[in-house]
Amino acid sequence: MTLATLIIFQVGLAQNNIIPFPASYTSSSDVFQLNNQVSLILKTNDVEVKNYSKNFIELLAKKGIHVSLNENESHKSDKTIVVELFKNFKPEIGNEGYILEVNTFSIKISANESAGIFNGFQTLRQLFPVEFESHSNDSLESIKISGCKIIDYPRFKWRGLMLDVSRHFFTVEEVKAYIDKMSQYKFNVFHWHLTDDEGWRIEIKSLPKLTEVGAWRVQRYGSFGKDRIYPLPNEVATYGGFYTQDQIKDVVKYASDRNITIVPEIDMPGHSMAALAAYPELSTKKEAKFVSPGAKFSEWYGNGTFKMLIENTLNPVDEKVYEFIDKVFTEVALLFPGEYIHMGGDEAYHGYWEQDSTVQSFMKQNNIKDSHELQSYFVKRVEKIIRSKGKKTIGWDEILEGGLADGAAVMSWRGMKGGIEAAKMGHEVVMSPTTYAYLDYTQGDYSVENKVYASLSLETCYSFEPVPTDVDPKFILGGQANLWAEKIPTLPFAFYMTYPRAFAISETLWSKKDSKNWNHFVGRVENQFERFDMANLNISKAVLEPIVRVFKDGNKLMCELKNSVPNTDIYYTIDNTYPAKFGLKYTEPFEIPQGDLGLRTQTYKNEKAIGRELIIHRTDLEKRVSK
Ligand code: ACM
Repeated sequence: MTLATLIIFQVGLAQNNIIPFPASYTSSSDVFQLNNQVSLILKTNDVEVKNYSKNFIELLAKKGIHVSLNENESHKSDKTIVVELFKNFKPEIGNEGYILEVNTFSIKISANESAGIFNGFQTLRQLFPVEFESHSNDSLESIKISGCKIIDYPRFKWRGLMLDVSRHFFTVEEVKAYIDKMSQYKFNVFHWHLTDDEGWRIEIKSLPKLTEVGAWRVQRYGSFGKDRIYPLPNEVATYGGFYTQDQIKDVVKYASDRNITIVPEIDMPGHSMAALAAYPELSTKKEAKFVSPGAKFSEWYGNGTFKMLIENTLNPVDEKVYEFIDKVFTEVALLFPGEYIHMGGDEAYHGYWEQDSTVQSFMKQNNIKDSHELQSYFVKRVEKIIRSKGKKTIGWDEILEGGLADGAAVMSWRGMKGGIEAAKMGHEVVMSPTTYAYLDYTQGDYSVENKVYASLSLETCYSFEPVPTDVDPKFILGGQANLWAEKIPTLPFAFYMTYPRAFAISETLWSKKDSKNWNHFVGRVENQFERFDMANLNISKAVLEPIVRVFKDGNKLMCELKNSVPNTDIYYTIDNTYPAKFGLKYTEPFEIPQGDLGLRTQTYKNEKAIGRELIIHRTDLEKRVSK
């Protein structure tokens, strides 16, 4: 071997592709061979650590590597994985941090608490070769891990992903698959959006109609909105489902086995059409309703103003509504051991309140001057109910309107401004702005993606900074990305929309702010692509594709192409020839001449096409011209 190849070989082995990037990583030239001769020595009696260790051993066994578990400290083995909790708390790594040391003879994972051990195992897994993730049954026999010392801990304590299971019902197994994957990237909060207009998904034993009626809607296909029609007379509601309380307990345990706390969301007073289909008496008009099949029932006028054509809001002046809410949260609080319950609070339409004489006289009697104050009255009552169950309230930033309830935390989604306002009032905040963290938005070029009303590229996602400059960081619990499921009919597509953007969010929430580096990140994302491909899991590679911008120069239609990934070239043609590789290499904006012509463009790395080819006709390019 020449010196040059030796160096390349060593660099290759030592490469750190970990996402989220660790706080500190030092490589060495050691190599640990993980095979059947290795034993895992557990130097603690902690039940969770034992559980995490057993699960890791099982994961290895699936790849044919059988590591024995040894709880006897004096056990002698040439090769060991040592797992231990520090006797004295090490403040620098906190509750979820860990130290991972790999040398020729041992792997050692140490932490203050079990959560740190879990996270250490996730990092170790990412140090394995990509073949480890293969969905085939092939045995690996041995895994080589390059020597290193990693000291790692999170920047934020709330690192969340939200899954909407109302617009599309995901089965227990699918929810578990979603949770399992997010735990590998050190997310620790699963926000479970359990109720909405399109379905109520959690069994509430004292209110059986919520799931008998509210969990089912008539079957419709395709995009939500005007193409979906309302239920026909006597049409049977066949689409839907819900989680029984036993299933919920099972998912809570599954999440906890992966260091994930579940925050259940019961969205109110708006987004309640499914609840009102079950109990129409809880609205002002008390009219019979159906569970929305995704048909259009609202009008949006810009600037966040809207009208609901069907009443989907609870009546905030009816005591029966608070009895209902009390029953719901009594059962929800018993099912979910976490600190927070999410009460929704977003997009509540006040029009039916404003038209209702009982509501209006209640407001007069109680000096409530407008519907925002009325919503605030509602939020405060709900917060009190949630508090009475021993939980803290969190809600979307609309809960600020008309006055925020004491003690309530705010999840800021309409940008960061709600979060800033709440933090300045001394409330806890989770930043989840549409501008950086909405995973339902389109992530690539419209010619190859489903068109959503807004776009969010991986690069923009990666530029998310949850702490605004003029806010005391101690109030920012962290951040979260949200996957709304109006356009997500399957789990593989949920993965496609979530990854790799969730990597960007995970790194933003875990890694040190000053360690973030786009080019470095995107290189590690490419390694994760290989892992997902190996596992046969769906992931979007839109980041590899050219970003197309068109503009006018006088009468000329001009096209600019941009790449997000370093060390790549863009090739294109504008003369209806293909493949793009045999066209022109992009250097500067060019004209698309008149005629029945289209742009074909593709990114190349080391002469190989990567990402999808984009084919956009001139007429479509014309439509894109930004004024
Ligand atoms: C939301 O996106 N309506 C919270």
